[in-house]
Amino acid sequence: MKIVNMTQLNETQIMQAAQILTDSIPIGWPTLQDALDEINELLVPENTLLAAVENGDVIGWGGILPQYNGNVFELHPLAVRIDKRKQGTGRVIVTALEDEARKQSGLTIFVGADDEKDNGETSFANVDLFDDFPGKIKSFSSGTHQSGFYLKLGYKIIGVMPDANGVGKPDIFLGKRLR
Ligand SMILES: CC(C)(COP(=O)(O)OP(=O)(O)OC[C@H]1O[C@@H](n2cnc3c(N)ncnc32)[C@H](O)[C@@H]1OP(=O)(O)O)[C@@H](O)C(=O)NCCC(=O)NCCS
Repeated sequence: MKIVNMTQLNETQIMQAAQILTDSIPIGWPTLQDALDEINELLVPENTLLAAVENGDVIGWGGILPQYNGNVFELHPLAVRIDKRKQGTGRVIVTALEDEARKQSGLTIFVGADDEKDNGETSFANVDLFDDFPGKIKSFSSGTHQSGFYLKLGYKIIGVMPDANGVGKPDIFLGKRLR
């Protein structure tokens, strides 16, 4: 598997990336066209999108978007093909994106990970996040949610947006120092 800047991908590979995005995060991008539009919007010079390519096929990809005058990079989005998960691909993509953010003088990288499924996946779902949030961070449990992946990669919970996706469905911010 190699990491390729997505500006180098051909049309078929961009379609594969879009398919992975709509399959992985249908709440955000319900159709292939939505996912394609997102990729085209993100493919501008200030952002960096990197794909994991295996035998010519895209098997996962992610992006970093500069914020706060380039001091901070938002990791958005990130998706690995369903049959290729839990084999280290997500870690390789995120590590490459962190290296790229570091190269571009970023100090912090962060991701917003929505806990938006119906019954909630983490211990932040369906609770009052205005009450003892520090205590809730200490006892955080990721359950099946992707925040478990970021915690494994050394990210820390740096904030939360209560009810970002409706009542009891927060957006969880996880961040990591880049230097
Ligand atoms: C989250 C995602 C990108 C992870 O990709 P992946 O290729 O499966 O991750 P990796 O195999 O590199 O996992 C790295 C480590 O995290 C662990 N991990 C992966 N997903 C996890 C989860 N949901 N919860 C807890 N740990 C997880 C792996 O077991 C591995 O641990 P190890 O190093 O001890 O073996 C992938 O599951 C995905 O595309 N999910 C759907 C889209 C999504 O949620 N994107 C993130 C939006 S914020």
